[in-house]
Amino acid sequence: MNLTRRTFVAGSAAVLAGTLTACTAERTADYYRGANGGDGALIGVSMPTKNLERWSRDGENLKSLLEDLGYVVELQFADNKVEQQNSQIQTMINKSPAVIVVGSIDGSALGPVLETASGLGIKVIAYDRLIRDTKAVDYYVTFDNYNVGALQGRYIVDALDLDHTAGPFNFEPFAGSPDDNNARFFFAGAWDVLTPYISSGKLVCPSGKLPASVDDWQSIGIQAWSNTTAQAEMENRLNSFYSATTRVDVVLCPNDAIALGVGQALDSAGYGGSDWPVLTGQDADQANVANIVNGKQSMTVFKDTRALGERCVTMVDQIAQGRDVEVNDTASYDNGALVVPSYLLDPVTVDAGNVRQILVDSEYYTAEEVGL
Ligand code: BGC
Repeated sequence: MNLTRRTFVAGSAAVLAGTLTACTAERTADYYRGANGGDGALIGVSMPTKNLERWSRDGENLKSLLEDLGYVVELQFADNKVEQQNSQIQTMINKSPAVIVVGSIDGSALGPVLETASGLGIKVIAYDRLIRDTKAVDYYVTFDNYNVGALQGRYIVDALDLDHTAGPFNFEPFAGSPDDNNARFFFAGAWDVLTPYISSGKLVCPSGKLPASVDDWQSIGIQAWSNTTAQAEMENRLNSFYSATTRVDVVLCPNDAIALGVGQALDSAGYGGSDWPVLTGQDADQANVANIVNGKQSMTVFKDTRALGERCVTMVDQIAQGRDVEVNDTASYDNGALVVPSYLLDPVTVDAGNVRQILVDSEYYTAEEVGL
């Protein structure tokens, strides 16, 4: 069969339905090949939301990289609504893509729709966030999520010089969205670095919002990584447990959206200058990088979405060309139904000392964009 993608898409609904039923997981490389030899296949890209900078960047980046290779791309953002993501993926399946790339909202809510895809021989790549509790996920491409949290933890240890100072420092931890599998890894990475200092009393938590164990991380999770929820939570903690004499010294924020909300709460509570706490983040969002430059955020963990996009596109291309798909981790990401073959990229700490080198010299931002 040497069916081109364009002829295929142009077919009538009846032909489409018939062909869909005939397709099996045994689709061949020829099936995927378009008129130009190796390209022209349809790729679905389902991203969680356009409202967080990182996802809109990721979606557009994937689309343009795939189009550069000659693929036809259907890109959808799901407004952080699980139902919307399910129905957008179903619509993609109806168009018979070769591969669907999914940045999930709720990693456990996509099993049935992806099982439909899988039954039709459509390959599924979990993008950045693991898809859980289903065998209908072929590959996972992400950053080393545990290490993201470990970098945040280590930054705190160094910034407060915890190995050489008695403290105690007032510490407030936050975790990411309870439905996001990554959030657990981020928290676990930070937790493993920070628990010795909590146990020794160098870090204390006046609000008491310290999970009893790493498994209890969801108790401090911020639903949908919302900056406004984070702001309200930080305001509560500041109002109830802090004062003009009891100041917060350090806040573990798992990502930049949460750091922005926490920063706003600190601003309103009159923090500034030398009593601004150590504040972590992740994603190198533009506003947060500007805050690093002007002293209102200590660090962020940069996950170069260009590299993630390129790796994901390599995977898509290897699948579509019927080649071996390169992975570098076959042990870490058990999704409850299988250990998903993964490709992990390295995250990098960015602070005021290396922001120019890492983000400007690499042309992720211009100096003006981040206030340099
Ligand atoms: C991603 C983070 C992001 C967060 C909120 C996580 O799954 O890995 O980079 O900050 O979702 O969108």
